[in-house]
Amino acid sequence: MSILVTGGTGFIGSHTCVELLEAGYDLVVFDNFANSKPSVIDKIVDITGKGFKFYHADMADKNSLERIFSENDIDCVIHFAGYKAVGESVEKPLMYYQNNITGTLNLLETMSEYNVKRIVFSSSATVYGIPKSVPITEDEPLSVTNPYGRTKLMIEDILRDLYVSDNSWAIILLRYFNPVGGHPSGLLCEDPNGIPNNLMPRILDTAFGKQDKINVFGNDYPTVDGTGVRDYIHVLDLAKGHVKAVERIMRVNDIQAINLGTGRGYSVLELIKTFEEVNNVKVPVEFAPRRPGDVAECYADTRKASEMLGWKAQLGVTEMCRDSYRARLMLEHGSDDK
Ligand SMILES: NC(=O)c1ccc[n+]([C@@H]2O[C@H](COP(=O)([O-])OP(=O)(O)OC[C@H]3O[C@@H](n4cnc5c(N)ncnc54)[C@H](O)[C@@H]3O)[C@@H](O)[C@H]2O)c1
Repeated sequence: MSILVTGGTGFIGSHTCVELLEAGYDLVVFDNFANSKPSVIDKIVDITGKGFKFYHADMADKNSLERIFSENDIDCVIHFAGYKAVGESVEKPLMYYQNNITGTLNLLETMSEYNVKRIVFSSSATVYGIPKSVPITEDEPLSVTNPYGRTKLMIEDILRDLYVSDNSWAIILLRYFNPVGGHPSGLLCEDPNGIPNNLMPRILDTAFGKQDKINVFGNDYPTVDGTGVRDYIHVLDLAKGHVKAVERIMRVNDIQAINLGTGRGYSVLELIKTFEEVNNVKVPVEFAPRRPGDVAECYADTRKASEMLGWKAQLGVTEMCRDSYRARLMLEHGSDDK
């Protein structure tokens, strides 16, 4: 069985390629390296000892997509490709709509032409906007606070419309909470091309002296220690969730939105403290005012993932902090020696 992975050299895509290859699937992967590096291809092969077909292609280019679908017998698609930085999306909304929306429309049109009607889409907990209560179930009303989030919600809506028009499609919208960590080999991790946005890359930059302290936005939330609480999930667990999602879309034709989180929230300070303890390093903190749009607490109700996919996160914050640090050591020094 052959799976097309879009954005497969990115952070979550590369880990998912490893899990899919190890589960015995044949892969066709494409990426334009907007936010990843060609060297990731060899790393996936090194970890798994298995090869796959790779195309350097942009989903904006319909001809490239036509070529990929005409040259391969694809059974289903996992769609990671897209831009993902919230702040950048506020500054450059058209770039985000162009890349994420137009690219996805090109992909879906090509899939329709080639009668490939099974897709797992990378959505995000960002579609819950400011949730009314936690843990967040999949039926929470949807709303968004920035253009990045809007592209996720728009693509979810496009896929829901597509399913209404033709219920022979099988669609899973995976709503990720906060992916962190890296491959335990140290070979794969989050390695963005620009300035990092998310908390873990910023913790790593501070631990490696690239910035002298980390800004923590808000210490007066009604949480355990005043800092925001999030549902961090190890990228390996997330990757395994995709293997389960593929198993389901090959069996059942419907559309489902499913949270992928651990169901347990950790505060920013708890995560930083765990990181310091596990890796025996210092991460100096400076408090800054709350950021508009940030919520006090956000963590998943994970029952649907467990019931529909038979999936549950296995790894905790210790592994998340250890594997993130090890992967960054390998990246900086070529080994995991300090
Ligand atoms: N990492 C997170 O915190 C998070 C949370 C929720 C949802 N998501 C979503 O999951 C998906 C994967 O996220 P990630 O963290 O691996 O991001 P990433 O940036 O590491 O991976 C995305 C990949 O898509 C590629 N890409 C972008 N535009 C492309 C295009 N037009 N054509 C071909 N390739 C293109 C990039 O080069 C990159 O390799 C994204 O859609 C993201 O929005 C991520």
